[in-house]
Amino acid sequence: MNKSISGFSKLSKRKKLRWIVENFFKDPENVMRELMSHWHQNEEQQRVLDGFSENTISNYVLPFGVAPNFVINDKTYVLPMVIEESSVVAAASSAAKFWMDRGGFKAKVIATKKVGQVHFSWSGNVDKLNSVFEELDAQLRIDVSHITANMENRGGGILDISLLDMTHLEDDYFQLKVNFETCDSMGANFINSVLEEFGRSLKTFAATHEIFKGKEKELTIIMAILSNYTPECLVRAWVECPIKDLGKHGDLNASSFAEKFCKAIRIAHIDPHRATTHNKGIFNGIDAVVLATGNDFRAVESCGHTYAARDGQYRSLSYCSVENGVFKFWLDLPIALGTVGGLTKLHPIARRSLELLGNPSASQLMEIIAVAGLAQNFGAVKSLITTGIQKGHMKMHLLNILNHLGATEKEVTETVNYFKDKVISFSAVRDFLNLNRGDKKKDNSLLTDQKASS
Ligand code: MEV
Repeated sequence: MNKSISGFSKLSKRKKLRWIVENFFKDPENVMRELMSHWHQNEEQQRVLDGFSENTISNYVLPFGVAPNFVINDKTYVLPMVIEESSVVAAASSAAKFWMDRGGFKAKVIATKKVGQVHFSWSGNVDKLNSVFEELDAQLRIDVSHITANMENRGGGILDISLLDMTHLEDDYFQLKVNFETCDSMGANFINSVLEEFGRSLKTFAATHEIFKGKEKELTIIMAILSNYTPECLVRAWVECPIKDLGKHGDLNASSFAEKFCKAIRIAHIDPHRATTHNKGIFNGIDAVVLATGNDFRAVESCGHTYAARDGQYRSLSYCSVENGVFKFWLDLPIALGTVGGLTKLHPIARRSLELLGNPSASQLMEIIAVAGLAQNFGAVKSLITTGIQKGHMKMHLLNILNHLGATEKEVTETVNYFKDKVISFSAVRDFLNLNRGDKKKDNSLLTDQKASS
């Protein structure tokens, strides 16, 4: 398979799809029909979706689920969740219900700073740069005022600019590090526009300022871009209750449950292998709501993982304590989100997700999403230290198998009942269904025979 094409992006959507199916599929007509069946029936909506990306040939559909009963800061929410993994929404809902009866979740935004950087090289003296920095700072702000005016009216803008000397790590390497407040928008476009203008402005400053004389051409802008690492755009979510209120879980009493739970969290702080899976569970909840609300899950993930490794070792994002008869479980999460701009109002489901959440501000959404992560983590660790996760997973797996095998409602009930205490596998379920279906055919033919002979 070595097929290439030039001018692909210029083809119409139908022609792109036609070229793909004819060159890469054995059954082009069927595949063409199948992929077209996922096109949105409303042409306008389809145009909106196509506008989010390039070379689109169809839509990739994921389930849109909801997890009710989330009490967050004394308000009850239904969380929208887009996720393809079974058990995630069920675990979130179950954790929500559990904590609803124990005071609910609490969350608090600690800071909302976003970060951008202009990386540049200059072979001149750092002291010279420092000596004009105040002047440069003022000039940079003036030069971007046409971009920042609107954001400033909304209460945001540039917070501070600092000059970092990085020459001990890389020859001639300096950086302008800029902190921003972007209010309810994630702010990527705003920040990047400001930074690129800073780059141009810095070049002009160098070309016209005395201290750069003779070396002005040596000042090179390497790149200007936001940083997705925003440790000061931070939210904390937590739950707490008297240990005795945790109740009994299998053969663990409340106090043994609390101790075992905390030990599991400590292990995720000590061991990077466990920490990675532990945090993956946290992001099961976070990403599902991030996606549902039209936010950038790659940015959220990369930020969270960098933060998890901030002391040099990758560790759990969540913490647990058992002190003075109180169980406390919390999560610190750096997360940059928007509730205006980007996809948030354009994507039809993202818009409805935000409406379902009561059209939160970006800070409120930070709190809600941190809670989704904490709830998911609670659900996963609770299962892991009691029943194991396979019990819940296999139940969903069984339903997927039955769906695949076209089971009727009655067959689903019978099969779920039969497999309650048995090991679930695709072949075991298929055999059980076939046996039952065969028996029923036999019963029916017996009935027909009896009718015929009577
Ligand atoms: C599976 O998607 C997530 C878990 O592995 C998380 C964890 O182990 O904590 C269950």
